Amino acid sequence: MLRFTARNYARIAQAAVTRRVPVYAHWGITHRCNLTCKMCGIWRYGDENEELAVAEIQQMAEKMARLGVVQLSIGGGEPFASKHLEAAVEAFLGQGLNLRVLTNGVPEGNGRNVVQGRDYLARIDRCMDLGLKNFSISLDSLYPARFDYICEAEGAWDAAVRTMTQVSSRLYDTPGAMPTINCVVSNLNLEELPDIVRFASDIGFAVSFLPVELLGDPKEGVRNWEARFIRYRPEMGIGSAEGASQVRARIDRAYDQLLAMKADGAPILNSTPYLEASRMYLKTGRFPPEGCDAGRLYFSVAPNGQFTICHRTVHQHLDFLDPGFEEYFHSELYERRRKLEAASCEGCMRACWIDTSSMFRTMEGFFETAKLTLKRRSGAPLTFEQARERWARVDQAPIVPEGAQPEAAAK
Ligand SMILES: C[S@@+](CC[C@H](N)C(=O)[O-])C[C@H]1O[C@@H](n2cnc3c(N)ncnc32)[C@H](O)[C@@H]1O
Ligand code: SF4
Ligand code: SF4
Repeated sequence: MLRFTARNYARIAQAAVTRRVPVYAHWGITHRCNLTCKMCGIWRYGDENEELAVAEIQQMAEKMARLGVVQLSIGGGEPFASKHLEAAVEAFLGQGLNLRVLTNGVPEGNGRNVVQGRDYLARIDRCMDLGLKNFSISLDSLYPARFDYICEAEGAWDAAVRTMTQVSSRLYDTPGAMPTINCVVSNLNLEELPDIVRFASDIGFAVSFLPVELLGDPKEGVRNWEARFIRYRPEMGIGSAEGASQVRARIDRAYDQLLAMKADGAPILNSTPYLEASRMYLKTGRFPPEGCDAGRLYFSVAPNGQFTICHRTVHQHLDFLDPGFEEYFHSELYERRRKLEAASCEGCMRACWIDTSSMFRTMEGFFETAKLTLKRRSGAPLTFEQARERWARVDQAPIVPEGAQPEAAAK
């Protein structure tokens, strides 16, 4: 995942000492999306008119490199809904950044939103031609029917797995490549997590687990920036269905297995401290007590170029493309505002942010990730047909595990 150039080494070392180099950034290239996943509300805010032009993307790439960013994730919405994605890949790789593109892996949509194009798989190839080695592709279940239900699109499982096998056929044993499954842990898939790790390993992927974040109440409204982007889906919330001790036992079983698999070398991208924090969060609702480094080890940029210290805080800083932004970023005024924002936050479990904080706190997660990146693969990549034959769960398991209340879910 990380390209260990001398410049990147120096920035990581400086970040470890000062905790004031923004080594990680996230840019949502668009809010548009071809899917309408049940837990996600980003697609409702898609607006092509707000998005940056290619010349602005180039400026952004140069500015990120000057600020010290080592690793950038391009997410969304769905990045392939933007026609500028390839230009962005070229711009950021050209500046020597390590780049990861987060995608749903599904070429067509569900007809309710934008369609990202029948040439999706050719565009994935084009990104790899440009030198992109890191994709994160979402998959929350090995039951095609369950995953299609979550994505609200028939055929989503087949499409996402087909994309994974195409990526794997090019990157399987490429040094520095770490294609990854992004898996949202919810009430629907808690018992599936170890098999999702085995599946990832079999197709030459790593896997990253992220506890689901949901509105606690349909009328909760806009409690913060990010609340617009998540939804009220009680059937996905862990704990909505059973008694407290049973819920805790389910969570412990799942995370005990994940931690043991990680200790045995399974390709789980989350650090051990993050997995422990996820277990705690799912059992108690409490976020990691250590706080976070939003705005100094990492930051976020919205599709229109607005800068925020992380995904959740409101826009109150200079725009990233403002000519005075770099001076502002290094000013005492910025540091005061940043500190206040981070200190008043209730917390979150976003792996990209919280794991970055945790990696630079103990360095344990950092070395685990480096080890995973450098590990060479043996064997051969699977074809889509082999992956489906081995891994698709086509028995009649219910989509929503017994005891959940799908009829209570908000639209
Ligand atoms: C917002 S999507 C953007 C990239 C791309 N559209 C995708 O789905 O992979 C990034 C990740 O956030 C996850 N996500 C969406 N809603 C979430 C929620 N309410 N809680 C936790 N993760 C969520 C998605 O499953 C996905 O893995
Ligand atoms: S999770 Fe990704 S694919 Fe699903 S609706 Fe949200 S942005 Fe789109
Ligand atoms: S804990 Fe709060 S401030 Fe820190 S990254 Fe999460 S939402 Fe942002």
